[in-house]
Amino acid sequence: MPSLVPPSERYKASFLDAVREAQASGSGLGDTLTWNVAEAEADFGPLLAALRRFEPPAELPQGYVHSEYRWLVEGDTYLGRVSLRHTLNDRLRQFGGHIGYEIRPSARRQGYGTQILALALGRARDLGLTRVLLTCDVDNLGSRGVIEANGGELEGEFRLDFYEKPIRRYWITL
Ligand SMILES: CC(C)(COP(=O)(O)OP(=O)(O)OC[C@H]1O[C@@H](n2cnc3c(N)ncnc32)[C@H](O)[C@@H]1OP(=O)(O)O)[C@@H](O)C(=O)NCCC(=O)NCCS
Repeated sequence: MPSLVPPSERYKASFLDAVREAQASGSGLGDTLTWNVAEAEADFGPLLAALRRFEPPAELPQGYVHSEYRWLVEGDTYLGRVSLRHTLNDRLRQFGGHIGYEIRPSARRQGYGTQILALALGRARDLGLTRVLLTCDVDNLGSRGVIEANGGELEGEFRLDFYEKPIRRYWITL
């Protein structure tokens, strides 16, 4: 059974394979597509530190909220990642919401996206959240499927002045 774990050195090889996959296919969240794999291969510490930099009790730069990354893994295999924002700010309320996720290209369409969100909802509940916001592009059918499979209730479709595509906002009550 896959589980959610904090990012760690144990999954380095598999994680970097997944980043290579995403970069080769051009399909992944923005930071995945820009990570420098050669640098991370030589020294994984800075990447792990970057992933942990918004966890409580870290002092936050202006405009940021506390958040955490968790990885979906099975054995030593990295399958995907989720980011869980502990609160919303004005920007996240419009775009981004509480939870964002990504499944490595070779593991898609096998139910892992639905599982990573289900596990993240459990973690959000443990953190005391009672309702979470999720947003996705209107044309991101995979993400829509993941959210709807987890009981997402559609708030509506919106156009934002700082983002090129129409988006959907969903709420899930925990
Ligand atoms: C979106 C994403 C996480 C989906 O992950 P996944 O593991 O493929 O999702 P699942 O296998 O759990 O699929 C969930 C549902 O969506 C459907 N689905 C998944 N990908 C799809 C696609 N590309 N087109 C249409 N439907 C799709 C599945 O068929 C499934 O529906 P079903 O249960 O009725 O069969 C994955 O495509 C991804 O990482 N994309 C890039 C990053 C991203 O877009 N993140 C979300 C940002 S909001």
